[in-house]
Amino acid sequence: MSKVPSVSIKGGKKLPLIGLGTWELVGKSCTYMVEKALELGYRHIDTAHLYQNHAAIKKAIKNIPRDQIFITSKLVLDQIDYKNCEESVEETCDLALKELGTDYIDLYLIHRPDRSKPMKDVLHAMNRLAEKGKISYVGVSNFNIHHLQDMMHAGIQISANQVEFHPYLYQKALWDFCKSHQIQLIAYRPLGKGALLTEPLLQEIGAKHKKSAAQIALRWIVQKGIPVIPKASSEKHLKENFAIFDFKLSDEEMNRLDQLNRNQRFCKPEWSDFDY
Ligand SMILES: NC(=O)c1ccc[n+]([C@@H]2O[C@H](COP(=O)([O-])OP(=O)(O)OC[C@H]3O[C@@H](n4cnc5c(N)ncnc54)[C@H](OP(=O)(O)O)[C@@H]3O)[C@@H](O)[C@H]2O)c1
Repeated sequence: MSKVPSVSIKGGKKLPLIGLGTWELVGKSCTYMVEKALELGYRHIDTAHLYQNHAAIKKAIKNIPRDQIFITSKLVLDQIDYKNCEESVEETCDLALKELGTDYIDLYLIHRPDRSKPMKDVLHAMNRLAEKGKISYVGVSNFNIHHLQDMMHAGIQISANQVEFHPYLYQKALWDFCKSHQIQLIAYRPLGKGALLTEPLLQEIGAKHKKSAAQIALRWIVQKGIPVIPKASSEKHLKENFAIFDFKLSDEEMNRLDQLNRNQRFCKPEWSDFDY
């Protein structure tokens, strides 16, 4: 692994605090950006079946020793044939492994909850995949406390929860819950897809540290020890997002940024079940 600061998932594998989100990166431009990210030292690549870029990522990672990269991917519950749940989950994973050209996925997530589907069965099947070595960790995404509790009451092991998290959506209660149950929180859409960049407080604190608003938003997250996965489609943004470990926000700055919370989501599609 590169020298990027990292956290350890359940005392095991290291997950770098900064990674590359790849939603909307496809084809040659995806391969190019992942290659550039790896050159800069990024070692966590976040993808998903829905992003349709596994094959493009395969081309970018082929020359890096596999144990030097942390790959996260996600299945969607609609992919699963529930008449043969365990086999179907394994086939879905096998397809992702083939597309990515790898023997294992470090972190495999259910992309989003759907309580009309037997999520417990899917997570049980994913835990079988972990036993077989096809994935290292079983996780979820977009789960709130109640979804997590439902799974935990059924005795299911969950190692990570990838959720939207940034200064306008400081999900403190969810973060505390995850910490107390050794579930690694991972922050997606950390820039609100660009919406946070005009926030005056991020700009003010940025000017003081000679950093951009984006870097302050990302620093606020990683300084809490939460891995973050901004997407970038230019080398300038890739570099900027990586340069967040050479300065520190004061306690006062962290507290002021904590106060920006307005429970504002930038990812709230039809399927969302955030009010459960
Ligand atoms: N699990 C889920 O349901 C879920 C949902 C959403 C996202 N995600 C993951 O999280 C990743 C990140 O989220 P996102 O892509 O939605 O949004 P984001 O990372 O918050 O924002 C990406 C946007 O910010 C711009 N940007 C990046 N770095 C910048 C910088 N330094 N200065 C100015 N602008 C900058 C990008 O522009 P350019 O493209 O021009 O560089 C792009 O328009 C996704 O790619 C995906 O991997 C997961």
